[in-house]
Amino acid sequence: MSMGASTPEPAALAGRVILVAGANGALGESVARACVSAGANVVLLGRRVPRLQRLHDALVAMGSQPAIYPLDLLGASAADYAQMAARIGEACGRLDGIVHAAAEFQGLTPLANTEPVEFAQALHVNVTAPFALTQACLPMLRRAADSAVVFVLDDPARVGRAYWGGYGVSKFALRGMMQVWADELENSPVRVSALQPGPMQTGLRAKAFMTEPPGTWPPADAYAGACVHLLSPAGAAHRGQVWTPRIDGSQPPAVAVSIDLPMAPAGGVS
Ligand SMILES: NC(=O)c1ccc[n+]([C@@H]2O[C@H](COP(=O)([O-])OP(=O)(O)OC[C@H]3O[C@@H](n4cnc5c(N)ncnc54)[C@H](OP(=O)(O)O)[C@@H]3O)[C@@H](O)[C@H]2O)c1
Repeated sequence: MSMGASTPEPAALAGRVILVAGANGALGESVARACVSAGANVVLLGRRVPRLQRLHDALVAMGSQPAIYPLDLLGASAADYAQMAARIGEACGRLDGIVHAAAEFQGLTPLANTEPVEFAQALHVNVTAPFALTQACLPMLRRAADSAVVFVLDDPARVGRAYWGGYGVSKFALRGMMQVWADELENSPVRVSALQPGPMQTGLRAKAFMTEPPGTWPPADAYAGACVHLLSPAGAAHRGQVWTPRIDGSQPPAVAVSIDLPMAPAGGVS
């Protein structure tokens, strides 16, 4: 797949330690692999230990020494994040980047039918958790000569419409939070930016578009290089910005796919 300027150098992350939150997920796993290929060591954060262990073993086979950090972002407290940061410091001695690739999405539902607790959970996992995790890691990131925090957004033209619920709202909040962090850290070594991938054929996408045929959209791998680019020194060009890299196959298909809106009236979303 053509990625133009987003294709990273093979050693773009040499010697760096990158924390991947949501390493269980499609994009998280792809990013973890790409970080290792670019010379980084990774800390894999997720809530499913067997899947983390499988990824860990695959990365070891690539010659890396990854660490696993099991954590459910829904229940984690500030003390849990402080402990996580301390453990990363002890085990790795440094932290040079964070990728926030975890996301809570339960499927398309009208706000009128959404339980307040479910709405709050989406906001918590998608906004409050990355805030608290970043805050806990900030001292380590500041100690690095050059470090990066990458938030992962979704297309506001899609998720700012009917039925995207707490997930959609959270992505607007995340966009704002990225800008605030970036402004506050403008004169520090910590570069803050956001990656806005196009549609990817992942489990999250399938929750909204259940009948979409496989292969309609690129896999998450297509955006992993772009994420490495943002983590690397070359990502300085995107500081404080949302980057939507151009990927082959990321344009809408010529024939519209059907959209699954189990509780929705006609009208639809794209
Ligand atoms: N797929 C797309 O078309 C698309 C488009 C634009 C942006 N994005 C963004 O890309 C990012 C990655 O999404 P994806 O498509 O790779 O989806 P995915 O495969 O479903 O990955 C999301 C991951 O988030 C994890 N997660 C959810 N709640 C969590 C919690 N409480 N604690 C820890 N982990 C939790 C999930 O863990 P489990 O595996 O344990 O459920 C899952 O591994 C998200 O930020 C998403 O918004 C996706």
